[in-house]
Amino acid sequence: MLSCVIFIVCCILISNLGTASKPLSILVIQHIPSPSHHVWTEHLVKGLLRKGHHVHAVSIHETKVKGKLAQNLTYAVFDGLMHTYEEAEDYNPAAWKEYGTLYMMHFMYQLIINTCDTVIKTKAAKELLEMTKSVEFDVIVQDITSNHCFYGLWEDVRVFLDEAKNGAIVISLGTNVKWKDVGLDKIKIVILALSKLKQRVLWKLDIDVPFEIPNNVMVVKWMPQSEVLSHKNVKAIWTHGGLLSTQEAIWKGIPVIVMPFFTDQRPNARILVAKGVGIHLNIKTLSAQSILHAVEEVLYNESYTRNMKQLSSEFRDRPIPPLDLAVWSVEYTVRHPNGTLVTPLRSQSWVEQNLIDVYAILFLSFFIILLSIFFVIKLLINFYYNYMYTASNLRKSKQA
Ligand SMILES: *[C@@H]1O[C@H](CO)[C@@H](O)[C@H](O)[C@H]1NC(C)=O
Ligand SMILES: *[C@@H]1O[C@H](CO)[C@@H](O)[C@H](O)[C@H]1NC(C)=O
Ligand SMILES: *[C@@H]1O[C@H](CO)[C@@H](O)[C@H](O)[C@H]1NC(C)=O
Repeated sequence: MLSCVIFIVCCILISNLGTASKPLSILVIQHIPSPSHHVWTEHLVKGLLRKGHHVHAVSIHETKVKGKLAQNLTYAVFDGLMHTYEEAEDYNPAAWKEYGTLYMMHFMYQLIINTCDTVIKTKAAKELLEMTKSVEFDVIVQDITSNHCFYGLWEDVRVFLDEAKNGAIVISLGTNVKWKDVGLDKIKIVILALSKLKQRVLWKLDIDVPFEIPNNVMVVKWMPQSEVLSHKNVKAIWTHGGLLSTQEAIWKGIPVIVMPFFTDQRPNARILVAKGVGIHLNIKTLSAQSILHAVEEVLYNESYTRNMKQLSSEFRDRPIPPLDLAVWSVEYTVRHPNGTLVTPLRSQSWVEQNLIDVYAILFLSFFIILLSIFFVIKLLINFYYNYMYTASNLRKSKQA
């Protein structure tokens, strides 16, 4: 599944340190221009530091890891990378919903190539390349795909949720899709629908809008989503279906209204609907009626909450906490340099690494198709001339 492929963390082993009980020297690189990727990277870095490892991390944002824990952390930021994307006119994730699957694959490929070009030109990348010449790392953890905090806000949010007598819903489209790109006309429709609810709504909205915000709605630029979803009054989340939001909703057992835009969000949405834990909302045909229908269905039909609670208890039932598993995976690659978590690139031939075999098959298929078309046309032409010839012979023999 695409979401799995996208979030695979690739571990490349450089040198082999006999046991992993010694502190490891770990390089963590997170260069995807998507704030959510920075979030999980930071969790992994913390987990590794807590185990006493030495970490050098380079990511898209500054780190919040400070104090004693940061004693063995060195850190750099791919300077200006996020700025490049946020400022670019044509970087508009909200518009990607229009793309078909094949075009999306091509588009993502181009985007990632483009990201690499941009990343490699940053000062941090140049310094990193210099550094790897002299510093030896035991393991490199790299995101192979190609949040801003407003402290003090949470207190107001908590009061707002505490006082939600009829429950509350949360609206968050993650960190990439911006409401400003979704458009004011759609926002107006959403406001109209929300004003008819007796529930309170906490809405992560990135722009100031020229409309009156109903009394039951609180607009925030950012929210601590995990804490918010833990609040007892939160009954549902309206999400874009990104993998991290999906996992968070499942973990907390909160049913979803899912309005996907691109890549893994669409299959995630399908799975959530199929499991009976969410309602799909189509951004293209968004109307006050469709919003109200989705919200009311998720809030008042108990099956969604029931199914989500069940799914949550299955999801949480695991032999080892996810962060421990991630830290273990990093240590595992060091203990087993040829083990299953090592990048397959190491054992692939030049032909496989460069997809020559794939291109060969594609070319061959194309060639066979062309050849078939050629022979069919040739056959038809022959048939036609034979027919004409026989017909004219027949006429001649009749005349004779
Ligand atoms: C940092 O590394 C040193 C040497 O490995 C170790 O003694 C120390 O406990 C580490 N600090 C933290 C906070 O883990
Ligand atoms: C609740 O939703 C489920 C799943 O969509 C549906 O099968 C069921 O009929 C609904 N119940 C009511 C009372 O609408
Ligand atoms: C891992 O594989 C490489 C190359 O295939 C080999 O040279 C090396 O000895 C192997 N290391 C271990 C620990 O098996």
